[in-house]
Amino acid sequence: MAKNIAVLGNGYVGLLAAVGLADFGNTCIGVDVNQQKIDSLNKGISPIYEPGVEEYLRRNLASGRLRFTTNAAEAIRMSQVLFITVGTPQMDNGDADLSFLKQVVETIAQNLNEYKVVVTKSTVPVGTNRWILETLTNAGFTAGIDFDVVSNPEFLREGRATQDFFHPDRTVIGCESPRAQAIMEDVYRALNLISVPFIWCDLETAELIKYASNAFLATKISFINEMANLAEAVGADIHQVAKAMGMDGRINPKFLHPGPGYGGSCFPKDTAALVHLGNKHRVPMRVVQSAIEANIKQKERMLDKLKLLVSWALHTDVDHIGSNPLEGKTIAVLGLAFKQETDDIRESPALDIVQGLLLSGAKVRAHDPKAMTNFSKIFPQVTYCTTAYDAVEEADVVMLLTEWNEYRSLDLDRIGRSVSHKIILDTRNILDPDDVLEKGFLYDGVGRGLIGKQVRMTHSPIHA
Ligand code: UDX
Repeated sequence: MAKNIAVLGNGYVGLLAAVGLADFGNTCIGVDVNQQKIDSLNKGISPIYEPGVEEYLRRNLASGRLRFTTNAAEAIRMSQVLFITVGTPQMDNGDADLSFLKQVVETIAQNLNEYKVVVTKSTVPVGTNRWILETLTNAGFTAGIDFDVVSNPEFLREGRATQDFFHPDRTVIGCESPRAQAIMEDVYRALNLISVPFIWCDLETAELIKYASNAFLATKISFINEMANLAEAVGADIHQVAKAMGMDGRINPKFLHPGPGYGGSCFPKDTAALVHLGNKHRVPMRVVQSAIEANIKQKERMLDKLKLLVSWALHTDVDHIGSNPLEGKTIAVLGLAFKQETDDIRESPALDIVQGLLLSGAKVRAHDPKAMTNFSKIFPQVTYCTTAYDAVEEADVVMLLTEWNEYRSLDLDRIGRSVSHKIILDTRNILDPDDVLEKGFLYDGVGRGLIGKQVRMTHSPIHA
């Protein structure tokens, strides 16, 4: 039987949960403190860019199974299942900030009028759901009223979140009561019907599954990025290395794509939180700590690669102490989002890289199909361009930072005519090196030893 659900917090995760759970046939009320956001959601306008989400939003609003409100008390009292989907941002010490979650738990305690299942979807440190259970048990308001606490971490990838919501690899539910389990089975009945595997476990196990999964994927990326750097040094091709590695079923080909470092709302935050959790329990997370450090270095390395390219192309002496080949140069940055198909710039490598460019005295002309509005709030001094071709106009160097599909088919002849110098650094390896080199560009990617080959071929002054 479908359930009445309140989704508390309508950021990225909350919005997806509200539209997805409504689409499964449940009746959902999305709750947020931001009146403007609620008004826009009730009109069927999504505050974030995520492919497909607006269609699901409109369809479920029209069906009458979905609405949004700022009235948390009313939504809680009317619903049997309460999903907590507030943000848990990273604090300076790496730990997750639980202040929004604590406010929501307090509001739940004040409005617990009958049996309810409280489901945590926000990513929370291990032990948080036990804390929610104890807090609700000890809250004076809840005396005599039964409830259960469930941990149900989400694994949505931005840009593919609707697909992931409706066809997850697995659904993890930390649940310690048969009554709550029966309710959660109803909530997710649609997934049961398509044979999505369910992992039923205790609260702490569910919480750790989320951190372990994200930390493992982040580590996999840092591993391939370091291997890519080594491939450059020894003259190997990282794509062939990754392809052959991935053919080993124990390794799997996914998440072996080298780049400028991982970003986004999850990997940086969750790896930091896991290291913090390990330290708290005196179990150092050395592997994950190294993955974090390698990720920071990867972003710096992109700037170093750019400096080397510019030095070489413009015959400046990169080894000369104090020389700064980027000073006064104009860099066309293509892509600002942390990955394609999103307007999200949280922890995007572009943030550090653009900052580094500006600190080096370069001018930045940027383009991104979706993320320019968000980026301009942090970097108003950048020139934002309506197309990639506007961005490259009279630029000295083109730097590709996000793997948007539209950048895969750029007209290189047109770019060649616009730029002052034909130099491209492709940090996502989305262009075909043969094509770019044939058009007369100086070109480098990540992990393909390209620049070394070009240097050897033309006896560059800096390597002579
Ligand atoms: C991630 C997890 O995949 C998801 O399960 C979790 O719930 C939230 O965090 P997301 O951050 O949306 O999802 O994006 P993802 O596709 O995982 O990419 C994360 C970062 O890693 C991006 O910056 C991406 O560019 C980078 N990445 C990914 C690589 O550099 N190489 C790869 O091979 C894969």
